[in-house]
Amino acid sequence: MSKKRYSLLALVLVIAVLLAACAPATPAAAPTAAPTQAPAGPSGDLEIFSWWTAGGEAQGLEAMLKVFQAQYPNVNVINATVAGGAGVNARAVLATRMQGGKPPGAFQVHAGHELIDTYAVSGQMEPITFLYEEEGWLDLYPQDLIKILSYNGEIWSVPVNIHRANVMWYNKAVFADNNLQPPKTMDEFFTVAEKLKAAGIIPLALGESWTEVHLFETVLLGTLGPDKYIGLWAGTTDWKSAEVTKALENYDRMLNYVNEDFAALSWDQATQLVIDGTAAMNVMGDWAEGYFKSKGWTPGVEFGWAPSPGSAGAFDALSDSFGLPKNAPNRDAVLAWLKICGSQAGQDAFNPIKGSIPARTDGDRSLYDVYLQSAMDDFASNKIVPSLYHGAAAAPSWLQAITEAVGLFIANRDVAVFQEALVAACATAGVCK
Ligand code: GAL
Repeated sequence: MSKKRYSLLALVLVIAVLLAACAPATPAAAPTAAPTQAPAGPSGDLEIFSWWTAGGEAQGLEAMLKVFQAQYPNVNVINATVAGGAGVNARAVLATRMQGGKPPGAFQVHAGHELIDTYAVSGQMEPITFLYEEEGWLDLYPQDLIKILSYNGEIWSVPVNIHRANVMWYNKAVFADNNLQPPKTMDEFFTVAEKLKAAGIIPLALGESWTEVHLFETVLLGTLGPDKYIGLWAGTTDWKSAEVTKALENYDRMLNYVNEDFAALSWDQATQLVIDGTAAMNVMGDWAEGYFKSKGWTPGVEFGWAPSPGSAGAFDALSDSFGLPKNAPNRDAVLAWLKICGSQAGQDAFNPIKGSIPARTDGDRSLYDVYLQSAMDDFASNKIVPSLYHGAAAAPSWLQAITEAVGLFIANRDVAVFQEALVAACATAGVCK
């Protein structure tokens, strides 16, 4: 450094020191002008527990986490996932943790029986009606949804989405190459399936145990129609009836058209068979839409959709939600997360990727693709029925009994024994006489 530049620097430093010494001391808590930054908000770790690990669902969660982190940058999110579609593994891990007094901050739980019977009735959650009041949500959610989130006059979780369970996805090229139209009825399904089989294509992709129950509920719906399907869970449709026998026969017949290795495949591996063109169709909830898109497929271009056979006009619905466990670690951060889950910004970031529609009624339709817009329309106009496998229709113990009955049926294919087991399961659930 030259001598001249050195003395200039020294002069600047001296002036700076003098100015600092002359400046009046600012009181520590001086009122500040209008804040230019958001208040610090909650900090520390926040564990968010879910089973969203597959293509589409994992990215959907990430998108919502981004919205959260932008608003609450001081919270360190621990994205805790337990793989296994429909929560087959996560739900067991969660139940053990809750019973052992080690709840995560927030956890994914299906609206309806899964939430209420498992966690609300047993006193493991804090009610969050106050949050609905504070955030003005009471008028922003469908009243029927609020009803199944409620127990004892309180609301117990925040729904992030609505999924549709009764969708049949199909590979458009396979259908076009074989000159086929997507089947609308059970009979059309069997005709199309026969042609595909003859062409050496697996008609229907299927996966592990829970996906078999998922298919089963859509066959009950497609055979009985929505009112009688609802009656199954309310004790007004007779499980011994000839119509139920017909549904079980349809299910039995359908199983003749699935991939042999179904028991070994996860839901996304089964969906992948449709992408590969090895299989033509898949009956799966619309998280499969998220999966297709995560693999670069575009709705209406490579894949098409239709209500599962026989179920047009009915929307087999379920909803993912998050609640506030009692003694949740970092309660403030959990509440902040719940606010994002219930916000328009959070839901509109999550759902277009997840393959679901917003639970709020004011989602921005323009952000949703052609399939999701059609799901919004159907949700508004169809008869809504509760999903069995995804926590809405029946108590968890009843679902467990049906899952076991389906498992046995897949092994022995005896319709009469299957029906007896279903009749007994309804009686044990205390719903049928
Ligand atoms: C459902 C859940 C969906 C999706 C799917 C596959 O039970 O509601 O959000 O995650 O399982 O994992």
